[in-house]
Order: sequence, then structure tokens, then C-alpha cells
Amino acid sequence: MSATVSATALRSHRAGELTRAHVGRQVRLGGWVHRRRDLGGLVFIDLRDRAGLVQLSFNPDWTPPAVMARAAGVGAETVVLASGVVALRPEASRDTSLGSREVEVHVTDLEVVGPAQTPPIPVARKEKEELPAEELRLKHRVLDLRRPELQRNLLLRHRLLQRTRQTLTDLEFLEIETPILTKPTPEGARDYLVPSRVHPGEFYALPQSPQIYKQLLMVAGYDRYFQIARCFRDEDLRADRQPEFTQIDLEASFVGPEDIQEIVERVLVDLWGEAGVEVARPFPRLTHREAMERYGIDKPDLRYGLEIRDLTPLLGGDAAPFLGEARAAGGRLRGIVVPGGATLTRKELDTLTSAARDARAGGLIWARRTAAGWEGQGVKAVGQRLLDALAGAEGDLLLAVAGPDTVTSPALHAVRTALTRRPGTAPATPHAFAWIVDFPLFEHDAESGLHVPAHHPFTAPHPADRDLLVGEPWRVRALHYDAVYNGNELGSGSIRITDPAVQHRIFELLGIPEAEIRRRFGFLLDGLAAGAPPHGGFALGFDRITMLLAGASSLRDVIAFPKTTAARALFEGAPTPVSADDLRGLHLQPLDD
Ligand code: AMO
Repeated sequence: MSATVSATALRSHRAGELTRAHVGRQVRLGGWVHRRRDLGGLVFIDLRDRAGLVQLSFNPDWTPPAVMARAAGVGAETVVLASGVVALRPEASRDTSLGSREVEVHVTDLEVVGPAQTPPIPVARKEKEELPAEELRLKHRVLDLRRPELQRNLLLRHRLLQRTRQTLTDLEFLEIETPILTKPTPEGARDYLVPSRVHPGEFYALPQSPQIYKQLLMVAGYDRYFQIARCFRDEDLRADRQPEFTQIDLEASFVGPEDIQEIVERVLVDLWGEAGVEVARPFPRLTHREAMERYGIDKPDLRYGLEIRDLTPLLGGDAAPFLGEARAAGGRLRGIVVPGGATLTRKELDTLTSAARDARAGGLIWARRTAAGWEGQGVKAVGQRLLDALAGAEGDLLLAVAGPDTVTSPALHAVRTALTRRPGTAPATPHAFAWIVDFPLFEHDAESGLHVPAHHPFTAPHPADRDLLVGEPWRVRALHYDAVYNGNELGSGSIRITDPAVQHRIFELLGIPEAEIRRRFGFLLDGLAAGAPPHGGFALGFDRITMLLAGASSLRDVIAFPKTTAARALFEGAPTPVSADDLRGLHLQPLDD
């Protein structure tokens, strides 16, 4: 940080930027009292600001008595202005690891400019001291945000944002803002609605994403758009979701999937580079079908091998009858061979079994290969013939689940995840990116029993499957691709439908009545009919990327003022009830009217 920026009317430097080079200089600092120590007539204050800490030293040899008295009275987190001379700290207390720890300031004047009440949560913590409960920290967010960890995270977030803008600007993308007060944009969640005061009974929706607008910008000829876009989704919250979050949103014209993937790879390589991690591209590609077959999930963690195998063809006549029954019902026996897994203890096997059961499998079959041959409960179940055909090496462990793919995939994914989390399990590579391509266009929603878009209804069908759209739309694959990293979905995108007739057909397939198609999506259909270039795009979850790069365990640690998992803002206290008068002003009926 350059001193010319730090120097203002009230200070000459930031506390944390003072080094040996400043020794002998008269400085004026402004910051927060991090810690105060009184040592028999001497006072030491660690002064903290955005750049770090420096020790203020109060000593009757250079500090006037009135200032000594003031220093002895300031409490933690008070804001002070201190003037003095930079000096080297006594040899014994010199810490050279941080520049400013080498020096201290011999204070000649101290002014209290921002008194602080006793902080309800401490900012200065002893080493290894546990953090207060998260709810308490969120309630006192301003204090929590003073924590160096959170400051580091938000600084990283800033750098990642700047880097994104630079990379995309270099690739000739234009940053264009789209409306926040808008019409519903379906992305699979509920909308946050905003009542209109001037149009009684009418509502805006907050965007779930800028999806439709970015497509319209392509129709309007802007060719390459991006936005650091705030999105709003009223969904059942999970640990890795926020009701309001940020995407790196982009769209480009005259492109195929590979073009978008290359652009997104460039952004990701630059972002990881900004965080000091070198990543090679291009990223490997897996089809959705392959990912489900080999890893049981559409966002596989490819840092580890442990692939799922179809064991059904190896089943012999000596297998337990329940496996034959599972097969007759259209199911399969699928499993993972864990090299060296024979050393797993009974307790570890129980943990894996629970993981499979929690994912709704009936149980987990296991067998291990010792010098004497295969042993374990699974030997009887799968039969000796299968084990012979498997021809594993000594020390192998076989873990298997039988049933329909809808059971075996999630169960074996859960088992695989539990295996990778065992202490001492080293990944083959620390950073595993991949593209998952050719998702299905629709998926079955177990809750409603309906088919819903696997992504959103604007995704183009795979050209090879276009004929199926009429007779068997549910089998159609989409030009939809996801970017995954170490088992996390970083983002999604697709090539879009540009033919208004095809777009209309998709809305119909989703069971949207004609009048509603016009009402909700008329502006998109009209746009597409105005001369639409082929186009496609992508959105990266920016909070998630920042969390992963910061090594944080929660999205809340990389968002300045986040919501809880119950969608509450604890610090500012939102949402809040509204007075009956305010409601009537918005033409809304108060509940108790
Ligand atoms: P999608 O809905 O897959 O795609 O969102 C893209 C990425 O945004 C992140 N994300 C979230 N992050 C935090 N909290 C949430 N509630 C949340 N929801 C999503 C995820 C996700 O991968 N318009 C399309 C993109 C496109 O087709 O161009 C879209 O929004 O990391």
C-alpha cells in the first residue's frame, strides 16, 4: 500500500505498514485499540488498522503525564489518533516475521476520537482461543468483520473481482447491468416479490439470475456481455447457499459449447492464479452419463480414483437370491474396489455402511482380499464366482450396493465421499477441475411428480436428440455444461434456444398454459423473433469460488453481511414486520384486517 494513499488529513501512515525504514520518523496513526497492557508505569497498546498492528509505547521518558493518564484509560476497540516517533523495538521483543512488529511508536500525543462500549465479542483473541458462537458473531457483525481472517477473505474477494473484470475485459466482454426490479426469471427457486405502490396489485420480482436479459443483450447485438450479478432466490437454505448471492455471469454470441468452456477456463485459471494456485487447462470433460456411472454424482470429486464399477455382468449363479431379484427389477450390483482397503476396521466399515444407508441403500456389501482369499459378509452375497472374476489384489476391499441406479448412485457417492475423508487419505492431485457435459434437458421432480428443466427452460436441446423432442422429450440431452472442482459445482451454462417456436414448445412441455407463456415470457419470445444470433453462456457462483480459494468453510465467511441458514440478517435485523399503514400504502391487506 503506498504511503501517498494512506496519508490523509488525519494520519500520516497506516499502523500495519510501518517498518524499519520508518525509524526516526514522526508519524500520526489512526486505528483501533486491539490490546492494552499496563506494566508498572508503562503502557503498551497494540494499534490495529486495515494494514495490521503496531505497538504504541507510552513511557514517562517521552510521553507527557496527561497523555500517560489517557492511555491508561482507553478500552478495547476504541478509535484513537496517536502521534509519535517510530523506533526499533527492544531486541528481545522484536518480531521480524511481520515488518511492523520490528518497530514501535514512542507516543507523544493520544486523542480518543471514537469511544467504544465494552465489545460483546472479543476481536483480539489468544492463540487457539475458540471463536464465539456464529449466531453471536453475526449479530455483532461489525466487530466480527474486524477479525483479520474476515479482512483477509474480503480482501481476497476484492482481488478476485478485479481479476475477473480484467480477464473478461481482455476477452472483449462488456460489463452491462441488468434490472433488479424485474419479472420472474425461473432458475428453480421461488421469487422474492416487491409490491408496486403506483400499480396496485402488481409486483416486481427480484431476479433469480440475469438469464433472460443477457440473452436479450445478445439479440440486441452486444456479442459478449458479463456482469458481477446479484441474484435472489427464495429457496430452502442449505449450508452452501444464500438467498442473495453473486454470480460471474456471462453470455456470448456465435459460439459453441467449447467457446464458452474455454472462456470460463481462462477466468478460472486466472482466479486460481490470483490466489497463488497454478492450474492447467484444458479441463477434462465427462458426459453426465459417465459421471453418474463412474462416480454416482454429477459433480464428482476427481482428486481421487475409487471409481464405481458395474459388477452385474460378473454375477454368477452362486450369488444370493436378493441380487437376482434386484436384477430382475431392473437394478444392478455396483461397487468400488478400494486398493489397500482391507485394513479398514470394523468401525470404519460401519461408518461406510451408515453412509450408504443414510443415502437410502438397504445396506453395504463388503469383502476383503487377504492372503488366504476373499473374506467378509459379502462373500456369500456376491458369490465366489464374482470375486474370482474380479481378480483383485491382496489388500483390496470390495464395497458394493444393489438396487436401481437411483439408489446405488447416491449410496456409492456417499461411500466414496466417506472413503476420501478418512484421515490419511491423500488425493492424487490437489486441484481437480472438470467439465460435465450433455446433461439431460429435463429431470423428474420426485416431490411434484412432474418433469422440470434440469437447468432452466432456455437451454438448447442436443442437436443429435432433436427428433426425440416430439415423441420422447424426457430422453433428450441438453447443450448444458457444468464446471466442477474437487466435488463442488462452480457454475452452470448452456447454449440457448434461439428459435421462438422451439422455446414455445419447451414451455408447453413444461405444462405452462398459453396465456401464461405470453404473460411471463412474451418479451423473450418477441426478442427471439427479432433476429437472434446463436448464443450461449455461463454463470459461476462467485461466493462459492471465493470460499474455496479463501479456505473458508462457509459462504458467510466471504460475504460482508450474510444471511443465516434461516434467511435472516441478524446484525441489521431483516426481515422485519411492516406497519399496517405501510402495507395498505402498497395495496396489501394486513393479515389481521
Ligand atoms: P445456476 O442456477 O446453476 O445457473 O447458478 C450458477 C451458479 O451460482 C451458484 N449458486 C449459488 N451460490 C450461492 N447461493 C445460492 N443460493 C446459489 N444458487 C446458485 C452456484 C451455481 O453453480 N442463469 C444460469 C446460468 C447460465 O445458464 O448461464 C444460472 O443461474 O455455484
